[in-house]
Amino acid sequence: MLRYLRNCTVHADFQLLAFFGFTNIQYLLFSGILVMFIFAVLGNTLITTIVCLVSQLHTPMYFLLCNLSVQDIVYVCAILPKVLAITLTGDNRISYPDCITQMFFFTFCVGTEFFLLTTMAYDRYVAICVPLRYSLIMNRVVCVLLVTICWFVGILNSLTHALLISKLSFCFSQELDHFYCDLKTLIKLSSSDTTHIQILLSVECVFLGFLPFMLILASYACIISAILKIRTSTGRIRVFSSCSSHLTVVFLFYVTSLSFYVKPETGKSQEDKLVSLLYTAVVPMLNPLVYSLRNHDVLRAIKNFVGRDDLMSIS
Ligand SMILES: *[C@@H]1O[C@H](CO)[C@@H](O)[C@H](O)[C@H]1NC(C)=O
Repeated sequence: MLRYLRNCTVHADFQLLAFFGFTNIQYLLFSGILVMFIFAVLGNTLITTIVCLVSQLHTPMYFLLCNLSVQDIVYVCAILPKVLAITLTGDNRISYPDCITQMFFFTFCVGTEFFLLTTMAYDRYVAICVPLRYSLIMNRVVCVLLVTICWFVGILNSLTHALLISKLSFCFSQELDHFYCDLKTLIKLSSSDTTHIQILLSVECVFLGFLPFMLILASYACIISAILKIRTSTGRIRVFSSCSSHLTVVFLFYVTSLSFYVKPETGKSQEDKLVSLLYTAVVPMLNPLVYSLRNHDVLRAIKNFVGRDDLMSIS
């Protein structure tokens, strides 16, 4: 009884169960996550470096992309190294402050990513549907303002959750059935009354989740209808292929992450964890590929860059 009470007041370490149900594919998961982590960090670093260095890429679209890349690097670095360490060593303890910090970065990155993807879709909408007024609408001030709103909402949201969660007590168990300190899993584990957080979470799913998603769909609907009016079929195919790859990744991110927070408990936590890998590892890895490495401007910039380096090393 005494131990029980002490557990309630002292913030004991948590244990992340991670992929302990998957003993037979443990190493497969480890190598898969490691590869995705490396690709996500390298790809996003490459994009950030190129956009900063090449002045032709100093446009709203690439600045937004650069923001997304920086945010993706923070995201994977907050989540994946810990799960890699757990899978490799089997030591699944995470201290209370670390857990809250990880939860903070997770909610921060997911919230910001929702908003940044929406801003990027809006930017493409303006560029394709009202091209003549593009530079007027997406001017420097608007761009900085939009990005500031994205980051500000993200920080505000995650700070709120970090404060609310730090007030909860965890008397029954310290075992988190996930591979990172996930908000919903923490709420489920808590022995305190969490009604207020759950209400907040539902409101957020609407305003930070569904609403941006609808705006993205609306933007792309306008873009697609504009594409259908393009005369040349090669032009149509090019714009269409870039839009469809954007949409695929947006769908992957929104549908998997939102469904995890919206759907009722099914008890299928193992499947949930694999699905969570889609929005914590696969999407941050795909973003640079889909948004820029398939893009002719970026490829040309990389080629010019490498070419210049070669010339310098020869001369
Ligand atoms: C983010 O976007 C803003 C607005 O376009 C830009 O000024 C800033 O340099 C970008 N920051 C990063 C790190 O990409």
